[in-house]
Amino acid sequence: MNKKSAGTHFILAPIAGVTDAVFRKICAERGAAFAYTEMVSAKALTYKDARTYELLRRYPGEKNTGVQLFGSEPDIIARAIGLLPEGFASIDINMGCPAKKITQNGEGGALMKNVALAAALVRAAVREAGVPVTAKMRLGWDNNMAIDFARTLEDAGAAAVTVHGRTVSQQYGGKADWDAIAEVKRALSIPVIANGDALSPEKANALLKHTGCEGVMIARGALGNPWIFEGANALFRCEAPREIPQAERLETAKAHLFAACEYYGESRAPLILRKHLAWYTKGMKNSAAMRVAFNACVTAGEMVEIIDNCKTNKEHSDIIE
Ligand SMILES: Cc1cc2nc3c(=O)[nH]c(=O)nc-3n(C[C@H](O)[C@H](O)[C@H](O)COP(=O)(O)O)c2cc1C
Repeated sequence: MNKKSAGTHFILAPIAGVTDAVFRKICAERGAAFAYTEMVSAKALTYKDARTYELLRRYPGEKNTGVQLFGSEPDIIARAIGLLPEGFASIDINMGCPAKKITQNGEGGALMKNVALAAALVRAAVREAGVPVTAKMRLGWDNNMAIDFARTLEDAGAAAVTVHGRTVSQQYGGKADWDAIAEVKRALSIPVIANGDALSPEKANALLKHTGCEGVMIARGALGNPWIFEGANALFRCEAPREIPQAERLETAKAHLFAACEYYGESRAPLILRKHLAWYTKGMKNSAAMRVAFNACVTAGEMVEIIDNCKTNKEHSDIIE
């Protein structure tokens, strides 16, 4: 990545249930340099599971998106890669997910306890993939052994690593250890992407600077706030981030809903959009009542009505009557 040009550093993280093609497009339009699918089961791909294949759908013209796979068997990872549709810019292997249903199968964060297997997965993926293979790791399982782990992945052929500055045992609690990420950056020759607690444009730039990494990956800070990329890019250019007016937030929420209707169909989209709409409206007047109302919506029309009422500053009590 070119450190001098703005707009190349801030990356949308893989987020299960969130980073579908619709949200990736919204973030790309607001300055995300790269994005990931949510984590996709390599095994389910080899079973030709239809819901899993849906996670691989891309929007027309989509570029700069990596697919994230999880698995624990090198041959299955390789077979899954052979089944991927064309067009993903890279393949990332999840080595950080702390969810028990994943780690109990030796997948995700459990790989932090098995560096030999993690390296074997990378080697198998590199042999099969025609694009760069990367890994998203944590600092360790319950203590920091990130440098040795990351070096082993580098030797196995990883083109880059993302380091989430927490152990798997920490899950999402406590503060991400930015010093530990910086140490990994200094120890490796391949690009390192820093991740953890870049919750605002200011923090994203601070993480970039603190670690000296090639990029910063943003997850929670982008929920309902795709403008975080625009703001981070502005700050990187030493410009003040733009204040995003409430009307623009609400218009984007509606555009997200309409795009989801096109993508998923009108019966599924409202269910999928409930959480997004709650995030877009968080912090606005009556946001708690709006969240309850969104969760009760069955149609997109009902959701639009709530958003439009919020735009005209109607009290929420008017809406639910
Ligand atoms: C709801 C949720 C879902 C996530 N799903 C994934 C995933 O599919 N793959 C992955 O590598 N990380 C996943 N993560 C972890 C994030 O990508 C990221 O590493 C973590 O949230 C720390 O970054 P942040 O402080 O910017 O949120 C998820 C996190 C959250 C909160």
